[in-house]
Amino acid sequence: MSTTILPPVWPQARQERPTRRQRRLPGADPLLGARLGGRYRLTRPLGRGGMARVYEAEDEVLDRLVAVKVLDATPDAQARERFRREARVAAAFSHRSAVATFDHGEAPGGLLWLAMELCPGRPLSEVLRDAGPLPPARAVFVAAQVLDALHAAHERGIVHRDVKAANIMVEPHGRARVLDFGLAKAFDQCALPECGTLTTAGEILGSPLVMSPEQCLGEPCDARTDVYAAGVLLYQMLAGATPFRGGEAHRLLLLHLTEPPPPLRDVAFGVPAALDAAVLRALEKDPADRWPTALALRDALEAALGVERAPPPAGRRFTITMACGVERRLESLGGAADAWQVRLEDGSVAALDPALLDLTSLR
Ligand SMILES: Nc1ncnc2c1ncn2[C@@H]1O[C@H](COP(=O)(O)OP(=O)(O)OP(=O)(O)O)[C@@H](O)[C@H]1O
Ligand SMILES: [Mg+2]
Repeated sequence: MSTTILPPVWPQARQERPTRRQRRLPGADPLLGARLGGRYRLTRPLGRGGMARVYEAEDEVLDRLVAVKVLDATPDAQARERFRREARVAAAFSHRSAVATFDHGEAPGGLLWLAMELCPGRPLSEVLRDAGPLPPARAVFVAAQVLDALHAAHERGIVHRDVKAANIMVEPHGRARVLDFGLAKAFDQCALPECGTLTTAGEILGSPLVMSPEQCLGEPCDARTDVYAAGVLLYQMLAGATPFRGGEAHRLLLLHLTEPPPPLRDVAFGVPAALDAAVLRALEKDPADRWPTALALRDALEAALGVERAPPPAGRRFTITMACGVERRLESLGGAADAWQVRLEDGSVAALDPALLDLTSLR
């Protein structure tokens, strides 16, 4: 028998689902109620970003709910092909901390869409906006899951290129899931100005807040580009704000290129020096000076907090808090670093994935 034991619940915004009648009412959004790809009926808006709208949709073939992202723009044939290619790459990638891509297509009128797993919960950007900075253990717990997903993607040659709080969903049970794998690349080179990260007026659409120096210069990206963005994300979780902010996009780009970020100890409370140093190394201007891999950064973060991934010694009893808030007393039977064997109170044996646990909360 195996079970998944999850960490405590995060605050969630209440999500109302419209009734069938409300869904039929003519609304301002002509896409609501539309059926894409002959099977995805768009039922309610979930949110919108700089270049797309996201809807909850009913997959009428598999009878399940999914999320469908519809691009605002109708790009040229070359950009379409790039989008299709990236969608195929994203669909071939799966990881427990990445939101899965299912399908893609083109709606009448040329609108491109992408069907993906419907992720419950809220974007990390909203959680941070409402809750402010996170305690170091919580920030590292979120970052570790994000970095696990990034590392798995890097091993398959996929660089995310747009790791930011708006692209991380925090599920009700505290799990973090990364959105939009591969999409940034499809848009990055898109010929249309609205697909870029900056408007012609230099207005900030979000990404300049997290752009690595090499992205600012239009140089090639690799895994270390995502390490930089993960550094920005950690900084934001710990300090409540990104290291560089305010002003025009071009000024922000210049700061990423030239200005050292203020040390976390000057802007955040209770961040251990080793954690501060690990984040600042992720934010080095030269990729060669950063953590070489997402995994190296994850390990450095956990080491900074004294987190041990190895299972507790066999025979040791410890307590974890489950998703519903109930505490479970477990006995360690040893196991591997990614699958602890534990005995539950009823004597049954289960596998416990430590990546889904805030390990600093074990007692
Ligand atoms: N798979 C999903 N499941 C549930 N909600 C989602 C999903 N994907 C996106 N959303 C919601 O849709 C919103 C908009 O997502 P979108 O990726 O278009 O914008 P963004 O990431 O905020 O900005 P950007 O345009 O820079 O990527 C998200 O903030 C989230 O609330
Ligand atoms: Mg997004």
